[in-house]
This record gives sequence, structure tokens and C-alpha cells, in this order.
Amino acid sequence: MSTEDKANEISAQAQEQASLTPSTDPEQPDPDQGAGGPITLFFILGLVASLVLGWVIFPQLLYSRKQQPIQFNHALHNELVDEGCESCHFFREDGTYSGVPKLAQCIDCHEEVQGESEEEAKFVNEYVLKEREVPWLVYSRQPDCVFFSHVAHVKLGQMECVTCHGHIGESESLKPYEANRISGYSRDIWGKNIAGIKFNSWDRMKMDDCSECHVSNNVNQGSVQTLRGGCFVCHK
Ligand code: HEC
Ligand code: HEC
Ligand code: HEC
Ligand code: HEC
Ligand code: HEC
Repeated sequence: MSTEDKANEISAQAQEQASLTPSTDPEQPDPDQGAGGPITLFFILGLVASLVLGWVIFPQLLYSRKQQPIQFNHALHNELVDEGCESCHFFREDGTYSGVPKLAQCIDCHEEVQGESEEEAKFVNEYVLKEREVPWLVYSRQPDCVFFSHVAHVKLGQMECVTCHGHIGESESLKPYEANRISGYSRDIWGKNIAGIKFNSWDRMKMDDCSECHVSNNVNQGSVQTLRGGCFVCHK
């Protein structure tokens, strides 16, 4: 390499370096800087807008809310009854589950209005006196094709209600029932979090959630060869 070539190479390198280092000359504004500010700002605004849309507005639109026909206070009633949860939610002789209580289970105490509460008055006047069952909305209701058995879980599996239902049983009021407008499922099944993130075992109760627990507890779901048998554990 000749001295001249060497000199050229060095000056080329120096030039390259100069073009990489941003100019600090206050007289010579960086041509990018004028546009950079607004672009970053637009990007941030756009990001914020889409986060608000995705995390706040979309879930609002995705779920329709219905209030329960009357408010029911679990905490209050648990103190008043003799047998705890089983006073209202019990197993019948044949092992089937009574589920949501019928009017007959309330009438002993609510034949007539006992207190000052507006909700109680509404309950007695609209339902007890008219002998109409309360059309409770069931948060955990699965589609008709699913077979679920409380005896298997509560008696054989010794599982707590809270594992699948959360703290409804200790609550003072009933939250609104939320139905997914696309799938029709209750939000208690479809998942509290729209991204599918689960913090508690009761946040979601889709097929995967049943399966996840069954697999970790070695519940017979059938092997690959008997996949049909496996499906029919939970499907009718
Ligand atoms: C005096 C009767 C009574 C007692 C006692 C009672 N419940 Fe309830 N429970 C109800 C009524 C009425 C509903 C219907 C409201 C509804 O559909 O959520 C209900 C609903 C529920 C549900 C919601 C089911 C669903 O998916 O909608 C759960 C879970 C539940 N009760 C758990 C409990 C637990 C746990 C206890 C005991 C700590 C308990 N309950 C005690 C009357 C009672
Ligand atoms: C062991 C007796 C008993 C049973 C069984 C019972 N209740 Fe009550 N309930 C009460 C008492 C006592 C109150 C409080 C009344 C007051 O002072 O306001 C009450 C209050 C209520 C209220 C008003 C609560 C509020 O937060 O304002 C509603 C609604 C109600 N009961 C519905 C029901 C329904 C539905 C059932 C059947 C699933 C039922 N109760 C079963 C004793 C009972
Ligand atoms: C392994 C999970 C699991 C456990 C544990 C569990 N449940 Fe449920 N529960 C469900 C599912 C799933 C449904 C919906 C069943 C359906 O739609 O066929 C349900 C439905 C209900 C309903 C509404 C039933 C109806 O048909 O109206 C009530 C009330 C209820 N459960 C109360 C309880 C109580 C009280 C306990 C504790 C003693 C309990 N559950 C334990 C999963 C569970
Ligand atoms: C947190 C754990 C858990 C969850 C969630 C769960 N299960 Fe289970 N399930 C069990 C266990 C454990 C058993 C076995 C109980 C026993 O026999 O000792 C069982 C048994 C069953 C059985 C009886 C199986 C047989 O061979 O007799 C059915 C049906 C069933 N589960 C359906 C469901 C459905 C449907 C769901 C979801 C909606 C569900 N389970 C959610 C743990 C769970
Ligand atoms: C541990 C219980 C369990 C087992 C085992 C199971 N499923 Fe499911 N499946 C459910 C539950 C609960 C739902 C409803 C919630 C959902 O859609 O995730 C469901 C929903 C479905 C649906 C959607 C139905 C609808 O109405 O949209 C299909 C299809 C289905 N299951 C097929 C299968 C097949 C095929 C198998 C066997 C490889 C199988 N399932 C095994 C619990 C189970």
C-alpha cells in the first residue's frame, strides 16, 4: 500500500467517523431533530391510545353486564343458618347437587318481610308472595355439552368451593353477571383477563383449565388410544 493510499484511507475513516458522531455545533441543527420530537410523541400517543382501546374499552364492549334479579348477601346468611353452605347448597341422596337454592329453602325465614332492607322487601313482594322462583344468573354455568359433577370434586376430591368459584360464598353482594358477546360464555368461564393470564385457580374455567388440573392430579382422561373415552369424561 502506498503512502498516498494510506493517507486516503485514514481521511476516509475520519470522514466516516465524523458523519457518525452527531454534530454538536449549535449553529447547525441536526436535520432529524425537528421531526424526531413529534414522531416520538405520535408514537407514544398511538401506543397509549391502543393500550386504552385494547385493555379498557375493548373488554367493556366485549362483555354485556346484567345485574342479578335481587341482591343476596352470603356473609349475612352464613351467620343465620345452621349448616353453613350446605343449608342452601347440598347433595341429594342420589349424589346430585342441589346447586342454586329454590324458593322453598328461603320461605321458612322470609314468609313475610322481616327487616328494613329494600332488597328483602323486593324479594318477598316480587318472588315469595307471587310464588315465583328467582331467575338467578349462574356465573359458572357451562355449555350443555359439558358434564360436570360436584360429588366427584367436593366429596371424592375433597376440594374447596373457593378453588373453582372464588370468594362468592363469603361475599356481601353479588357482582354483575358478564356475558361474552362473541362466545356467549360467562366471564367466569372465559377468563377475567382478556389476554388469558390467570392469577387464581378460579379466574377461568375453560376446557384447558379443567384439563390442566386433571392432568396434574392424574384423573383418568384416557390415553391417546382411547381419546374418545377421554373426551367423554367431560362431554355428554
Ligand atoms: C341462605 C342460603 C345460602 C347459603 C347459606 C349459602 N348460599 Fe351460596 N348462593 C345462594 C343463592 C341464593 C345463590 C344464587 C346467586 C347466584 O346465582 O350467584 C348462591 C350462589 C352461590 C355461588 C355462585 C354459583 C354461580 O356460579 O353463580 C357460589 C359459588 C356459592 N353460592 C357458594 C356458597 C358457599 C361457599 C357458601 C358457604 C360459605 C354458601 N354459598 C352459602 C344462597 C346461599
Ligand atoms: C335462617 C333464616 C333465613 C334463611 C333460610 C334465608 N334468609 Fe334471607 N335473611 C334473613 C334475615 C334475618 C335477613 C335480614 C333481614 C333484615 O334485618 O334486613 C335476611 C335478609 C335477606 C335479604 C336482604 C339482604 C340485604 O343485603 O339487604 C335478601 C334479599 C334475602 N334475605 C334473600 C334470601 C333468599 C333468596 C334466601 C333463600 C335462598 C334466604 N334469604 C334465606 C334470614 C334468612
Ligand atoms: C372443581 C371445581 C368446582 C368445585 C370444587 C366446586 N364447584 Fe360449584 N361449579 C363448578 C362448575 C364447573 C359449575 C357449573 C356446572 C354446570 O354448568 O354444569 C358449578 C356450579 C355451581 C353452582 C350452580 C349450579 C347450578 O346448577 O345452578 C353452585 C351453586 C355451586 N357450583 C356451588 C358450589 C359450592 C357451594 C361448592 C363447594 C361445596 C362448589 N360449588 C365446588 C365447579 C366447581
Ligand atoms: C382444581 C382441580 C380440578 C378442576 C379445576 C377440575 N377438576 Fe374435575 N376432577 C378433579 C379431580 C381431582 C377429580 C377426581 C376426583 C376423585 O375421583 O377423587 C376430578 C374428577 C372429575 C370427573 C369425574 C371423572 C371420573 O372418572 O369419574 C369429571 C366428570 C370432571 N372431573 C369434570 C371436570 C370439568 C368439566 C371441569 C371443568 C369445568 C373440571 N372437572 C375441573 C380435579 C379438577
Ligand atoms: C376435563 C374436562 C374435558 C375434557 C377431558 C374434554 N373437554 Fe372439551 N370442553 C370442556 C369444557 C369445560 C368446555 C367448555 C368451555 C370451553 O369451551 O373451553 C369444552 C368445550 C369443548 C368444545 C367446544 C364446544 C362448544 O360448544 O363450543 C369442543 C369442540 C370440545 N370441548 C371437544 C373436546 C374433545 C374432542 C375432547 C377430547 C380430546 C375434549 N373436548 C375433552 C371440558 C373437557
